[in-house]
Amino acid sequence: MPDSKTTTDTSTLSPELKAELANIIAPYRNERGALITALQKVQERLGYLPEPAIAQVAQAMKLSESEVYGVATFYNFFRLKPVGKYLVSVCRGTACHVRGGPRLLEHIKKNLGIGEGQTTADLKYSLETVACVGACALAPNITINNETFGKMTTKKATDIFGEER
Ligand code: FES
Repeated sequence: MPDSKTTTDTSTLSPELKAELANIIAPYRNERGALITALQKVQERLGYLPEPAIAQVAQAMKLSESEVYGVATFYNFFRLKPVGKYLVSVCRGTACHVRGGPRLLEHIKKNLGIGEGQTTADLKYSLETVACVGACALAPNITINNETFGKMTTKKATDIFGEER
């Protein structure tokens, strides 16, 4: 499987992590229009946007937390929950759809014991659906941490993820 992502536990931010985030946010503090970029940088560092980080961004950029939450929830590339070590993305594009994508998705949900947008309790897997991943000839496709697995079958999914949880 491809290299894992790291997700930092930030239920509370350590002073060191707060200082690190302050440095990350600093170049954008006086530019209201740079909120998206600041959030992207924070998410790159933490793997997602935990509540204390949202609060820190809001304070640094002199915005309300609800304004920052509004932006973070509007764009689907922001994550408010931790992402698993392996991000499993099932293609919902047309070619994959007609070649069994929905059935595959249901099967993987059972393999992992989670629904779309969820992460397993052990933080190993997160599951999402994505638009066409650009490999339609190999449909149906899934990606795991950006590596594409083509011509997927339910059997291959079970080989990768194991039996139903
Ligand atoms: S529709 Fe799935 S790769 Fe294009």
